[in-house]
Amino acid sequence: MKTKYNIAVLPGDGIGPDVINQGIKVLNAVAEKYDLAFNYIHALVGGAELDNSGVPITDETINLCKNSDAVYLGAVGDFKYDKLEPHLRPEQALLRIRKELNLFANLRPAIVYDELVGSSTLKEEIVKGVDIMIVRELTGGLYFGYPRGIEASADKKAFNTMTYTESEIVRIAKVAFEVAMRRNKKLCSVDKANVLEVSRLWRETVERVSKNYPEVRLSHMYVDNASMQLIRNPRDFDVMLTENMFGDILSDEASMLTGSLGMLPSASLSNNGPAMYEPSHGSAPQFKGLDKLNPIATILSASMMLKYSFNLEMQAISIENAVIKVLKEGYRTEDIYSEDKILVGTSKMGSVIAEAVWNS
Ligand code: IPM
Ligand code: MG
Repeated sequence: MKTKYNIAVLPGDGIGPDVINQGIKVLNAVAEKYDLAFNYIHALVGGAELDNSGVPITDETINLCKNSDAVYLGAVGDFKYDKLEPHLRPEQALLRIRKELNLFANLRPAIVYDELVGSSTLKEEIVKGVDIMIVRELTGGLYFGYPRGIEASADKKAFNTMTYTESEIVRIAKVAFEVAMRRNKKLCSVDKANVLEVSRLWRETVERVSKNYPEVRLSHMYVDNASMQLIRNPRDFDVMLTENMFGDILSDEASMLTGSLGMLPSASLSNNGPAMYEPSHGSAPQFKGLDKLNPIATILSASMMLKYSFNLEMQAISIENAVIKVLKEGYRTEDIYSEDKILVGTSKMGSVIAEAVWNS
């Protein structure tokens, strides 16, 4: 009997469905090659669900996610929903899944492949060999803190609250230290402890957790400095630990070291229960259906799913190697294209990677 893995597939909006289809192509190649069974259960999310039922995600879909072995998400959001009340915006679907599944640990690897070193806007000698893992806290901080709101008064006032409890910091710090132990034992914790109380508690708590990981070299850096050092000397970083919003910002920055936001996968993990895998980029609605954008972030997110949720390490590596192989062969989507390379669309890129998995 084959083990059957139930995957909740939420393509979402914009290019979400386009890139998710490529990820599924690649997963199917893995299934065939290694005799595995992936069972996909599709559901609407974000704007697609808003058009269908008036809410960005339904309780049934939340339950589907909770009862799956992993969630595979494309992207959510479209300009046409920009005017909706905040609680009805497509992004709420994402935030609700993260919260309800307790996906507090977001792993975002930014790797500069030798083949793409010329695609970065930074100089080759700066980005060559960059391999950073951002560990972003995902269910706390400004995104979820109360009180929040807009007060109606003559001079309107809007407010959000950045909160973290000690236990929230401990659990994400532990993840970061564990990740560091499996890599180069080097961790940089990012905060704004010169200004924010939350950051002071953050720094203090991370220090305390570090006592259990004496082998890990821990440093602390203010977020403004970190954003500068990331483009000045990115190779200095190995694992970076951040709160929610700092990680949102720094991970977009880190993705550009790699040449394109289209290269950055992500895994969002809880302590138990299903995890979610999605590209770090957005829905890019203006490119929907144009067969143009890069599916590699989504395909590499599938590789992270195999590794972190299903413990299929060898199969996960086969996807990573397939991506490297097709880059070596010269296949490029527009975002990472350079002269003399083979320009392909979203679907063709998915197909050549799936083929490379099959032939590996
Ligand atoms: C991300 C996105 C989301 C975030 C948005 C869409 C809510 O930017 O996953 O990085 O800010 O977390
Ligand atoms: Mg973001």
